[in-house]
Amino acid sequence: MQVLRAKEAHVVDLRGVSTYYSGEDKPAIGDVWLRIPPNTLTLITGPNGSGKTTLLETILGILKPRSGEVRLLGYEIPKMAYRARKMCGYLPQDFMKPPGEPFSAKEVVAMGLMSNRPFGRLSEGDKLQVMSVMETLGIEDLADRPFGRLSGGQQQKVMLARALVRKPKLLLLDEPFSSLDEDSRRFIAENLLPKFVEKGTVIMVSHDISFRPRRCDIVVKMNSGRIVEVSS
Ligand SMILES: Nc1ncnc2c1ncn2[C@@H]1O[C@H](COP(=O)(O)OP(=O)(O)O)[C@@H](O)[C@H]1O
Ligand SMILES: [Mg+2]
Repeated sequence: MQVLRAKEAHVVDLRGVSTYYSGEDKPAIGDVWLRIPPNTLTLITGPNGSGKTTLLETILGILKPRSGEVRLLGYEIPKMAYRARKMCGYLPQDFMKPPGEPFSAKEVVAMGLMSNRPFGRLSEGDKLQVMSVMETLGIEDLADRPFGRLSGGQQQKVMLARALVRKPKLLLLDEPFSSLDEDSRRFIAENLLPKFVEKGTVIMVSHDISFRPRRCDIVVKMNSGRIVEVSS
């Protein structure tokens, strides 16, 4: 069993966090308090524009909060974000790339390992790991296809494989089902994520809760940049 040091008792710990976009006088998220323990699956829901993506990007240190404290895997964010992010896999909401994108699907998956490898060089084991994750998601036959020429759903699966390949402690998924067909959604919600939570932690954003994962420990509801309900 994974033992967390006392200061890492929560994977995510937000204390009174507000984040503003530049030039805006209203916070995109305001006074957010949230603690997420390890080996849990948290679903963040709420209507469009309620602050779900802003919340994920504040947790990761991609956006800098104007006030409050953020801790991720025990690290102070955004100061130590580069350290904490090595242990996170992130599937962003805007993942689509144009047809001219030069990388193949397997190169995009491999990017998930690069930041944790000296000089970005992959071992034979890494290459096997890339193919193994692609097989799990049923996209191994897309390995050599240009990423930008795949369908939206195929690109989304490749980006999910990129997030998973580094075996993250925390997986953050922003609307991961938006382009997927029903079978793929069901596989991820009922099979892949519950299995992942045995070893890691998941934060999943979805405005549509019809595909609620089989295991869901915490549900966070957002509205107008505020957390309005947390249930478990
Ligand atoms: N780049 C940006 N610049 C200014 N405002 C933004 C930007 N991105 C998002 N917002 C605003 O921040 C609020 C929260 O957006 P977002 O976090 O994307 O919501 P959600 O993911 O729940 O749809 C919305 O009011 C949105 O218009
Ligand atoms: Mg969003």
